[in-house]
Amino acid sequence: MIAGARNINYLRISVTDRCNFRCRYCTPAASFKAIAHDRIARYEEILRLVRIGCDMGITKVRVTGGEPFVRKGIFSFIRRLCRIPQLKDISITTNGSRLDRDKLKELMDMGIQRLNFSLDTLMPEKFIRITQRDRFQRVWDSIMAAHDLGMSPIKINTVALRGFNDDEIQAIAGLTRVYPFHVRFIEYMPMGGTDVNTDRQILARDIKDMIIDAHGPLTAVPKGPNDGPAKPFRLAGAPGILGFIAPVSSHFCSDCNRLRLTSRGTLRPCLLRNNETDILTSLRNGADDQALKQIMVTALRDKPLCHNLKKRTARDVPLNHMASIGG
Ligand code: GTP
Ligand code: 5AD
Ligand code: SF4
Repeated sequence: MIAGARNINYLRISVTDRCNFRCRYCTPAASFKAIAHDRIARYEEILRLVRIGCDMGITKVRVTGGEPFVRKGIFSFIRRLCRIPQLKDISITTNGSRLDRDKLKELMDMGIQRLNFSLDTLMPEKFIRITQRDRFQRVWDSIMAAHDLGMSPIKINTVALRGFNDDEIQAIAGLTRVYPFHVRFIEYMPMGGTDVNTDRQILARDIKDMIIDAHGPLTAVPKGPNDGPAKPFRLAGAPGILGFIAPVSSHFCSDCNRLRLTSRGTLRPCLLRNNETDILTSLRNGADDQALKQIMVTALRDKPLCHNLKKRTARDVPLNHMASIGG
């Protein structure tokens, strides 16, 4: 699929807007209202859309949430996804709390190698403050289990927030000295309904400076095919990679190859723009594959050349919680 000069081959599928955590920057308890079950795309419906997308050039899929592993039947959905021959890369973004060694093994047996874990702190007490859940140990254990099983690359996503985890940036970056993980620091994006003020945002260059002060120089490493929006670096002698995802300070829209399918069955060409096309209703109203393909093509015409987090109009403020879009 083509959008301007960009070849869109990566579909991010949010299978649910629900999550068992309440991260303050994502789904703060007060404002979060889950979408009714009958408005959520059924697995069968998602698989049909993925197959159509594959006919049009999608080769890469990431399953996201909310938290994908809170949705019933997720394992058999992923198994069916793994059987779609055109898909060369299937990965999952998770908070890790519902995984254990057996489940991770099951995922590996299906062919899943790449998991991205969200982890903003290494301190159990602070973990409770950020996620509003007491699950640090469980998450850490599942990251370790994935590592022991040989999953690779394991990516850790850390949203950097002043006054929350800025005192831990060195420690979190230090994980790359011990493990071959890709630790990625993400600039906080002000999405709909979060509790977090933008003055807590820390820009990638400041995060980088804190790391260099503590650990010494960072060497840029060439971007791999699976590096997505992160700019990769390495600390001297470290087995792991440090990445910086900077949607605010240096947007990467010009090489964005993604399309999103939200759990409500809408196509969203850009994370940070509210333009969505409701493809699920058309599917439920009996549209044939050709018509659904046309809807995908038309939705992509809306893919912006550049987001405008800095110069937003009311129309462009992302209204949805991150959990309902899938990050
Ligand atoms: P891979 O590159 O396939 O490993 O995935 P990824 O890094 O894109 O996936 P992940 O779900 O781990 O996303 C990491 C973070 O990048 C998320 O927090 C998003 O906030 C951010 N991100 C991912 N895609 C986009 C995008 O298209 N635009 C913006 N602005 N941010 C994105
Ligand atoms: N800004 C930046 N990243 C966010 N995530 C969730 N909400 C935000 C936000 N407002 C991240 C999570 C998760 C990924 C899918 O999105 O940390 O790792
Ligand atoms: Fe759940 Fe991830 Fe959002 Fe935290 S960031 S509430 S774990 S979806």
